[in-house]
Amino acid sequence: MSVVILDFGSQYTQLIARRIRELHAYSVMLTGTATVKEIEDHQPKAIILSGGPASVFDPAGPRPDPRIFELGLPLLGICYGMHYLVYHFGGQVERADQREYGRAHLVCYEGPLFAGLSGDVQVWMSHADSVSALPPGWHVVAKSAENPVVAVQSADERIFGVQFHPEVVHTPQGLRVLENFLHIAGVPRDRTPKHTLNLLLHEVRNRAGDKRVLLAASGGVDSSTLALLLARAGVDHTAIFVDHGLLRLGEREEVERTLRNLGVNLVSVDAADRFLCALKGIADPEKKRKTIGGEFIAVFEEKARELGPFDLLAQGTLYPDVIESAGSKGAAMIKSHHNVGGLPETFNFMLLEPFRDLFKDEVRKLAQLLELPDEIRLRHPFPGPGLAIRILGEVTPKRLHILRRADAVFISTLKEWGLYHEVWQALAVLTPVRSVGVSGDERRYGYVLALRAVTSTDGMTADWAQLPMDFLDAVASRITRLVPEIGRVVYDITSKPPATIEWE
Ligand code: XMP
Repeated sequence: MSVVILDFGSQYTQLIARRIRELHAYSVMLTGTATVKEIEDHQPKAIILSGGPASVFDPAGPRPDPRIFELGLPLLGICYGMHYLVYHFGGQVERADQREYGRAHLVCYEGPLFAGLSGDVQVWMSHADSVSALPPGWHVVAKSAENPVVAVQSADERIFGVQFHPEVVHTPQGLRVLENFLHIAGVPRDRTPKHTLNLLLHEVRNRAGDKRVLLAASGGVDSSTLALLLARAGVDHTAIFVDHGLLRLGEREEVERTLRNLGVNLVSVDAADRFLCALKGIADPEKKRKTIGGEFIAVFEEKARELGPFDLLAQGTLYPDVIESAGSKGAAMIKSHHNVGGLPETFNFMLLEPFRDLFKDEVRKLAQLLELPDEIRLRHPFPGPGLAIRILGEVTPKRLHILRRADAVFISTLKEWGLYHEVWQALAVLTPVRSVGVSGDERRYGYVLALRAVTSTDGMTADWAQLPMDFLDAVASRITRLVPEIGRVVYDITSKPPATIEWE
């Protein structure tokens, strides 16, 4: 029993899916032109038609399969979705001279879709077309000062349209609107994390049976949770953890200890020398990434051969990856997207991807149920190529040794000051620049270390974090004291865009 979201290309469609999940209902996103058969395969209880850049006047614009209107399901159209519903059921839509974009406030609202909303209702608009005449029997249920038709409903109160985007945070009471729609449609709200975990355990046991399952552990939350899931399901699994020598201080030991304590069959490969040797003389960031990716595949494959044969490869692919690559359900072969540094295309494994319907925050909730310690569960993202892309220029054992200690001081001080979870990601970058300083009576040349901390929701855009001055002061003096090779500490105050989060 699901809510099917038909995607007409809005930048916010994924957010609709997330919000529905937050309300503990199950949602599936399909392309807006999905056939009625494809939709029915998901046992829909309701359909949401998303917004999108097209106009109903555009003959080439995406249109839903008209047979969906014969299913008798409750429908909610958002923006373009609303225009399409109005147009389909016999109303009129007109092109506006100007695009309305940004905040608006409802001057009145009524009806079941707005039940329980109170006070000033701010909504987020982003549209050009608007509704000029309603289908027979429909009526307007919300207006703003600028717009006389902000929400509409059909006579039987089963079909709704909203001009605004209830799924975005700039519509603060939007979740309530979506919740009301679920209530009207009688969508079950039983998808608690516990329920999801039980379903996944069942699925993994069913798919794996007594087959041997291989996976790559990276120490990140997705692969760690996946390993725990397999362990909890009692599946015959082997997690290979490739230590490429580019990890943070004590990271390998922490991952080994944590996962093994929780019953994961973890095999580590110490391949630091091999990676460092391959990286010798390479300063170009993309070349570093390619070299690390290539070595990773080789090491992983060798170890898998040694420990094999295996029947299935488990991957922590998440729902956004599936949407991005328009993946199909079932036992697809390895795709070009992957989340563990690049697994071999030549591996002819069947895939087990239990998280392919989940968002990252849902995986974090599962991780909590599976008792993954917060140290790993709530850890900042860490790039697959590790510290190699935080050492500008060539990666050498000496530079790694410097950066690893400086990074550890930065991160542990953030934790000590209670600031670690206030930022999305924090990192230290070792620059090749050496600048002058004084030590006693002597002039001394030390490396310039850059600290970076950002706030973000998904890493796509980021703001530099305004860490307290006294914290920066404390951390700079700690780093220069504990890592004498560093002579100067600077703090990066660039946002993304125009910069990226990493320096390489
Ligand atoms: P940028 O630097 O592109 O980073 O703003 C966005 C997020 O991606 C991470 N990142 C990587 N992750 N392999 C990875 O697995 C990479 O090559 C890579 N480069 C950047 C970065 O840490 C941030 O979280």
